[in-house]
Amino acid sequence: MKIRIAEDYDQMSTWAAELVAQQIKEKHNSVLGLATGSTPEGLYRLLVQMYQEGKLDFSHIITFNLDEYLGLAPTHPQSYAYFMHQHLLDHVNLKPENIHLPDGLAQDLDAFCQKYEEQIIAAGGIDLQVLGIGRNGHIGFNEPHHYLSVGTHTVRLTEDTIEANSRFFNSKDEVPHQAVTMGMGTILKAKKILLLANGKTKAKAIKDALCGRITTRIPASFLQLHRDITVIVDKEAASLL
Ligand code: PGA
Repeated sequence: MKIRIAEDYDQMSTWAAELVAQQIKEKHNSVLGLATGSTPEGLYRLLVQMYQEGKLDFSHIITFNLDEYLGLAPTHPQSYAYFMHQHLLDHVNLKPENIHLPDGLAQDLDAFCQKYEEQIIAAGGIDLQVLGIGRNGHIGFNEPHHYLSVGTHTVRLTEDTIEANSRFFNSKDEVPHQAVTMGMGTILKAKKILLLANGKTKAKAIKDALCGRITTRIPASFLQLHRDITVIVDKEAASLL
């Protein structure tokens, strides 16, 4: 595990963008696993900038997003599909058929989850998975629980996550209580993982995930088992390491 401690959010984003850009340059048809949230916004801004400057080509890149709220249409401003279009997908030359976003409106969710896993395998597996971390130690929407699921699945969100994510909604009541997410197996099968975290609210989760026991109560602790993971955190998120 490589741990890099950045001075601040901007440096974290710059280092993350350099790593993703290197992946795209080394393998022009890379399969990227992508995350939403405040954490990777700076990363996506820099990737868009590199594309606009002619330094990156996404024409053969394939993407799979980590998760989505159940019940929100892609046109809903708080859906993760909307976030991805706004921050990255609409601003680079990704082919629409190469973009995969979990469908929070799928009629048959079990069938959707199985198909998503099959699509990842058919694409050759994820080359680089970008992750944020919840303040409760979740990755994707794999929430702390007495067990974790392997593949893409539906999940009930914890009170802590609903509370944390309510900042994006008009009120806490509007936050969906369920989501669809890649599973721990889907994530751990990625060839490389890039975990990002910034700010004091993430310090405890980062400490528990990187230095503590492996436990389903801190899903990110399973990342300690991965062979090729880079963690980029700012000073505040690293303050308890
Ligand atoms: P954030 O979310 O980037 O908005 O902090 C991360 C997460 O909950 O996984």
